[in-house]
Amino acid sequence: MAAGIRHGAGELEQGSGGVELEVDVADDQPAESAALAEEVRVGLQKTPKRLSSRFFYDAEGSRLFAEIMHSPDYYLTRSEYEILETHKADMLRQFSPDNRPFELVELGAGDGLKTKILLGFFDGQKADFTYAPIDISADALKGLVIDVQRQWPDLQLNPRHDDYFSALQLLSQETDSRKVVLFLGSNIGNFAPDDAIDFYQQLHNRLQPGDLVLTGFDLQKNPAVIHTAYNDREGLTKAFNLNLLRRINRELDAAFDLDAFDHYETYNPENGEARSYLVSQKAQIVPIKALDMQVPFQQGEIIHTEISRKFSRVQIEQLARQTGFSISGWFTDSKDYFADVVFER
Ligand code: AVI
Repeated sequence: MAAGIRHGAGELEQGSGGVELEVDVADDQPAESAALAEEVRVGLQKTPKRLSSRFFYDAEGSRLFAEIMHSPDYYLTRSEYEILETHKADMLRQFSPDNRPFELVELGAGDGLKTKILLGFFDGQKADFTYAPIDISADALKGLVIDVQRQWPDLQLNPRHDDYFSALQLLSQETDSRKVVLFLGSNIGNFAPDDAIDFYQQLHNRLQPGDLVLTGFDLQKNPAVIHTAYNDREGLTKAFNLNLLRRINRELDAAFDLDAFDHYETYNPENGEARSYLVSQKAQIVPIKALDMQVPFQQGEIIHTEISRKFSRVQIEQLARQTGFSISGWFTDSKDYFADVVFER
């Protein structure tokens, strides 16, 4: 079987070419729900209140994020798309000199919108590679697997439903082929600075000399451009942020009134941090039955839900140096909004 993840209790999807895809969704659901419960229990007792953006990505959150990626104000996806389209041949030369086999491991693959540029090109060039997409959203991953199978039936796929940190363990498995880790889309921006350093140190510990990590960094730029990306005219980011409360209502039997919360965004050009908040529109007490909690909110009180960091070139170079990598590739778009940077172990 080309794609080896199972879906629930034996539910099977039929890919084109008659390939059965088994996608494991249900098995990890209790662990995810327990993690959400713990996050809500601890985070809503903090001052200021805090919930991790990790929990944005239920089915509706993933759907909304896909819409954000297509929206005119969210420049990040378009910029990285341009980079991959322009530099796919350079990237293949770097990943696979003399057509060496390689394993393309993608952390946080999502719907693979941008990666498909590389997959299509690599497949067309008869590159010798396997593709191992890893994502925390089972729905997004399932869609990606079905799509990739349909478009490139011969491509060797090894998908996995997991979070980044658990997935890192996979990288320790020794193989003959070089590992090329993709960490696109500015996902690194959602890490606190110390966690980002820890993450690259872990990558360094697990990879072999010569392995590569291609990371998508959103670069610091005119603050107004960044602010608009997270405060879009269509209200998609607002819906994406508020959906976290909807998820808590559903999974933890809570009673958040979504109309009683608003979305607020700040961008601080001094440290490159965009931050998203949910703001209580009135004094209220929200019951969360599954946790036996009553959460009080003042009017105007915030829940901090996301950091989206923007990087300077110096900061990226420092991150590589600090974690033992050298930089062997630097690709940007025509506006210099975004950079896909290759770290070599
Ligand atoms: C997934 N991540 C890189 C996105 C970002 O830009 O921080 C998530 C997002 N949040 C609001 N809009 C998009």
